[in-house]
Amino acid sequence: MEKPFNFATLAVHAGEAPCAATGALDTPIYQSTTFVSADADEMAAVYGEQKPGYMYTRYGNPTIHALEAKLAALEGGEAALATASGMAAVSTAILGYVKAGDHVVAARSLYGAAYNFLNKKLPRMGASTTFVASTRVEDFEKAIQPNTRLIYFETPSNPVLEILDIAAIAALGRAHGIPTMIDNTFASPALQQPLRMGITVSLHSATKYLCGHGDALGGAIIGPSDYISLLVHEVIRDFGGVISPFNAWLILRGTRTLHVRMPAHCANAQQVAEFLAGHPKVEHVNYPGLPGHPGHDLARKQMSAFGAMISFEAKGGYEGGKHVMDRIKLFARAASLGDTRSLIVHSASTSHRAVPPEQRRAIGITDGLVRLSVGIEAAADLIADLDQALQF
Ligand SMILES: Cc1ncc(COP(=O)(O)O)c(C=O)c1O
Repeated sequence: MEKPFNFATLAVHAGEAPCAATGALDTPIYQSTTFVSADADEMAAVYGEQKPGYMYTRYGNPTIHALEAKLAALEGGEAALATASGMAAVSTAILGYVKAGDHVVAARSLYGAAYNFLNKKLPRMGASTTFVASTRVEDFEKAIQPNTRLIYFETPSNPVLEILDIAAIAALGRAHGIPTMIDNTFASPALQQPLRMGITVSLHSATKYLCGHGDALGGAIIGPSDYISLLVHEVIRDFGGVISPFNAWLILRGTRTLHVRMPAHCANAQQVAEFLAGHPKVEHVNYPGLPGHPGHDLARKQMSAFGAMISFEAKGGYEGGKHVMDRIKLFARAASLGDTRSLIVHSASTSHRAVPPEQRRAIGITDGLVRLSVGIEAAADLIADLDQALQF
């Protein structure tokens, strides 16, 4: 058997080939809603899927397919589906498994809108979620009910950077015949490949590291081909969360440099986290690359580097956090993450405002918590900026 290509080669080449018609080396943006058939029989055959071909971009598009093929290769999955946003990926992926009467076991620390979808939207459809009150896999097992159809989690989690044991959760799902689903946004496939650890489905806000440049919303779901095919036929066509060809192209372009950007992000984040951890005006720092982080050893085992997301609490609670936010200059006061530019947000009032305050406090999203997405500028400049913002 031919040796499979390394990650960097897949990032650059997978899913793409020169255009057969024109020889264009870069994947063209097929900015077309619809595709022409030669005659009525061909049209019926393409719509009936007896003949391969494109018909309408909500049902598939060559630029979007190139992105899907690249992402499947990078995560080591059978197939992938690109979606309009990360939340389209979260909702589409969950709806592929969960129907009225079903139950989901979910981690307590999740992106705010994902938490809200599980907590508020699933009950409207007659399904329910139990949020596990710890990171222990035994507690995930205790939460399983006869009607549990899905185990859903994030690691590292947004924004408190909890680390969950991916292989142990995969084994738990297998033992009970329940699919497992991870939001792999914070790590990206460059740092963590959950499907290779036995997880059924990996999903992303492709808006973040996959795109990498803060210029396109998108999402991705990677998993078994029969499940992805079900999502295409039963969920995305009817709910309509399709990515635009232009955004797919931007994310495709970003993904080609993922393996080059991630080490730069991670090296910067390690330096920033160590600086913050030693700063007298900082109460505590959440970063799995710090030896004192409760998930440090596990992160070392299941990630190739610790990522570039950090959260911290300045002394003085809310006032301390507000002071840092107000004084910071180089970090942009902006939501999102995974951009080449460094970003700073106050989690309780932005990404996690939909999470009830008592739940926020239970998982460590204090009113003073500030989250950093560390970019690829010079670490010394980022540290100098934080240092001046922490003068009070
Ligand atoms: C971990 C995680 N998952 C999903 C999302 C949702 O992604 P999007 O904003 O692309 O819909 C986000 C957004 O911040 C996120 O941080």
